[in-house]
Amino acid sequence: MNKTLAIFGWIFFGLIMGVGLMRFMSTSDDLGELAAETARPERTADGRIALYYTADDRAHISTEMLGFLQGLQTISAAIAEEDRETIRDTAGALRRGNGQGQAVQMKSPEGFRVLGRSLRQDFSDISDMAMTSEMDEIQLVVSSAMGKCSACHGSFKAVEVKDGAAAD
Ligand code: HEC
Repeated sequence: MNKTLAIFGWIFFGLIMGVGLMRFMSTSDDLGELAAETARPERTADGRIALYYTADDRAHISTEMLGFLQGLQTISAAIAEEDRETIRDTAGALRRGNGQGQAVQMKSPEGFRVLGRSLRQDFSDISDMAMTSEMDEIQLVVSSAMGKCSACHGSFKAVEVKDGAAAD
């Protein structure tokens, strides 16, 4: 029950990040000035918060994301088969980044980093639970993790910039 609530909490968080915070940000003078100075609007046309990344940043993110998607696919099949070792190892491999995401982290807003960290924590929990917990409990944490995929994608959108000053 608590986990179900937590999932809704994350979806809610995503909505707040996507709508509430942007409304707040749009009235914030600092950010308005920053956007005017850099000609980089804080939102994309569809209303999400724009994240200005270089091609390298985007390549790094894409690789990580495909790893998440493949990992979730492997884990969901392993849950159906009660293959605990595969759940433990697959989630365990995703509990940390490869250390190359520092640049992306530094350019990203706090809400983005919180979601990313929380997703890592879910993979860590899934790995720790794999050998002992009931499959439906593991499934709930997987669902919680997927709530963070939705929350982040719904709130943020990558926009490619050429130079290295993507943090501006
Ligand atoms: C903290 C934010 C965040 C979270 C959490 C997140 N993503 Fe993403 N994801 C992004 C961003 C930003 C992009 C766009 C990258 C780009 O286009 O430059 C993206 C892109 C993707 C793509 C497209 C990759 C490509 O280039 O083809 C997939 C697939 C994806 N995410 C899957 C997932 C899955 C599955 C999860 C959850 C397990 C997840 N993401 C969680 C931020 C996030």
